[in-house]
Amino acid sequence: MMSGEEAPTLQPEQEKQPDEEPPPAVSEAPQQSGSSSPVVAEEKPLSIRALVLTGYGGYDKVKLQVKTQKQQLAAGEVLVRVKACGLNFAELMGKQGLYELLPPPPVTLGMEGSGVIEAVGEDVKDRKVGDRVIMLIRSGMYQEVVVVAAGNTFLMPEQMSFEEGAALPVNYLTAYLMLFESANLKPGKSVLVHMAAGGVGVAVTQLCQTVPDVTVFGTASASKHEIISQGGVTHPIDYRTKDYVEEVRKISPKGVDIVLDPLGGSDTQKGFSLLKPLGMLIVFGAANCVTGQKKNLLALAKSWYNQLSLSMLKLMQTNKGVCGFHLGYIPDEQLIVRTMGKLLELYSQGKIKPRIDSCYHFEEATDAMKRMHERQNIGKVILLPEAKKEEEVPKSNPEPVENVEKTEAAVNEKKEETTEEVKAEG
Ligand SMILES: NC(=O)c1ccc[n+]([C@@H]2O[C@H](COP(=O)([O-])OP(=O)(O)OC[C@H]3O[C@@H](n4cnc5c(N)ncnc54)[C@H](OP(=O)(O)O)[C@@H]3O)[C@@H](O)[C@H]2O)c1
Repeated sequence: MMSGEEAPTLQPEQEKQPDEEPPPAVSEAPQQSGSSSPVVAEEKPLSIRALVLTGYGGYDKVKLQVKTQKQQLAAGEVLVRVKACGLNFAELMGKQGLYELLPPPPVTLGMEGSGVIEAVGEDVKDRKVGDRVIMLIRSGMYQEVVVVAAGNTFLMPEQMSFEEGAALPVNYLTAYLMLFESANLKPGKSVLVHMAAGGVGVAVTQLCQTVPDVTVFGTASASKHEIISQGGVTHPIDYRTKDYVEEVRKISPKGVDIVLDPLGGSDTQKGFSLLKPLGMLIVFGAANCVTGQKKNLLALAKSWYNQLSLSMLKLMQTNKGVCGFHLGYIPDEQLIVRTMGKLLELYSQGKIKPRIDSCYHFEEATDAMKRMHERQNIGKVILLPEAKKEEEVPKSNPEPVENVEKTEAAVNEKKEETTEEVKAEG
């Protein structure tokens, strides 16, 4: 067992940086060195709690540790007290060493969050102390206080909760850019989305409803169908007990206009087969590679072996389109800023609203990851930096576990669990 106090204090400069810098639209939380024009002068670094990936493997590799955070700000930076963070599938993959944009361990996890600005650096004109902001960075969000570039913050609408703010950027930017930039969704079209009850799936469903007469086919575990139907999925399909290709064809013999594929492997082939002429398949994930809590080489090999392989001639002769999407490789910062603006407007108009599945304190990070990994979540899983109070019930809104089917992998995995867990610092 390792509490934050027992864990070795981790200096920010100990966290390794990636060898190669990809072209980021979003940046990592800046490190301690290289600051200029300090606004909070001569203040000692803060001691803060952070969720650190200490190596690749199981849940035990994510530890609650105490590390130091600089208070001196460089020009253009803001210091934010983090209130809520979003858990993404990318963190499950990163834990297994399968997310190439995450710097190698030890590294503080987390790409998105929300909080309150406590200090601003020089040259920051459009943010002030007290502003409630959403943040999007490459890694380093799972900590109590974070320093980010002001350009990576977005002002939150008044009525938005911190949990909603933390749930919005990754899932909704991904859904919006795929639907409206890559696939050019128009009225009357049909969309097949996998993982329809997850964070991106819910965002896709809500955004489809902003366009008239769009039919949404969504694959999800059967226990989630009622909720996703209420949320706007026209045809929920239980991919665990049924062949979803057959199910789609029963309803729409000609197939669908858009397939959003976060699974990879043989599902990409199936998605391509389901496309109507002039349809578009967007590949944006490889969830099929994640079967247990540790890296599974067999699953990786299976996905690779079954991947879609096409000739350009076939593309031409079938009149189908295939494209990829990865938010982390969007180099256009202005596109991100503009799209966040549109999403916040849609939120204020009541057209989109992140569905919060559950909230877990940092001490309960293992439970949060398990909830996603064992396919229990409907909507977004949130992590809260604030220390858990003794009397508090651990989860805010999870479905009873008995209502949710578990995968064989998830059940087997229970046997591998380590006894180490993160604990409150007291
Ligand atoms: N390219 C990008 O920029 C980008 C950005 C964000 C997310 N993504 C991808 O989008 C997908 C969804 O991400 P998310 O963060 O919104 O997660 P999520 O959908 O909330 O993920 C959990 C849900 O996915 C389903 N699932 C299907 N296969 C799974 C597996 N192998 N392991 C665990 N759950 C599985 C489960 O629901 P059911 O059992 O109901 O299916 C589970 O409840 C992921 O593949 C992620 O990598 C890509």
